[in-house]
Amino acid sequence: MSTATATPTDTLSADKTAYRNYAAPQVSETFDRVKEFYRLNHTHQTHDFVKAKKAEFLSFTRQKMTPWDALNYLNTLVDDSDPDIALPQIDHLVQTAEAMRADGQPDWMVLTGFVHDLGKVLCLFGEPQWAVVGDTFPTGCAYSTKIVYSEFFIHNTDVKKPELQTKYGVYTPNCGLDEVHMSWGHDEYLYHLLRDHLPLEALYMIRYHSFYSWHKEGDYDHLCNAQDRAMLPWVQRFNPYDLYSKNPHRPVLKDVKPYYEDLMAKYLPATLQF
Ligand SMILES: [Fe+2]
Ligand SMILES: [Fe+2]
Repeated sequence: MSTATATPTDTLSADKTAYRNYAAPQVSETFDRVKEFYRLNHTHQTHDFVKAKKAEFLSFTRQKMTPWDALNYLNTLVDDSDPDIALPQIDHLVQTAEAMRADGQPDWMVLTGFVHDLGKVLCLFGEPQWAVVGDTFPTGCAYSTKIVYSEFFIHNTDVKKPELQTKYGVYTPNCGLDEVHMSWGHDEYLYHLLRDHLPLEALYMIRYHSFYSWHKEGDYDHLCNAQDRAMLPWVQRFNPYDLYSKNPHRPVLKDVKPYYEDLMAKYLPATLQF
């Protein structure tokens, strides 16, 4: 699969220091909402919870939907973990993908931008937001202090299990992230849903785009193998588009819909089995 050459620049012209400021979010009333979200997330995302959710959802026996059906559903969702926007999700997806397209990124990456949060349809299946969205982190080993609101892990029952609180926990040195049970949510779910359809770089962007303590803070390298390290720059290339394209300017979906219909037809099956 081809690789991208452009660097994210001009289309991402918002004040980049203003995003992901959890102490002073851009929309002030979101502070309590986001903090409460992470209290719930860090309390309930135990190692056993993650394994149970994988067993529950990764057999994909729920329903068939076209990618567009799933996108239309996302229009009804406001992400409680996001301190920066309260826009419908599909606007965020269009903004992310259009910024990539404007920068000349490869078409598979533009498509990845367009669908990267599609896994949030887990909310459609009755899952609470703390089990769908938010930053992700490895379970079954020590928590990085770089994880947002890491002080809330004191409420997670895994902290009372010494075998899950060592540097490597249940893992071995440099075992590779594929072996690691990340906290459960839309990233992991969508990765498994699309793993047969997109190139490896795209799959890393989808699976680890919320793993900020790795791709932004540089932690957890001791669990990474050579492939993870090779793919890290792609996850980092994806991130500015996910983050800085969240501005109130809305590209109109109907104007760009034919382009994305063609892109989906090129890479994805007509229906997806969720
Ligand atoms: Fe996401
Ligand atoms: Fe996103």
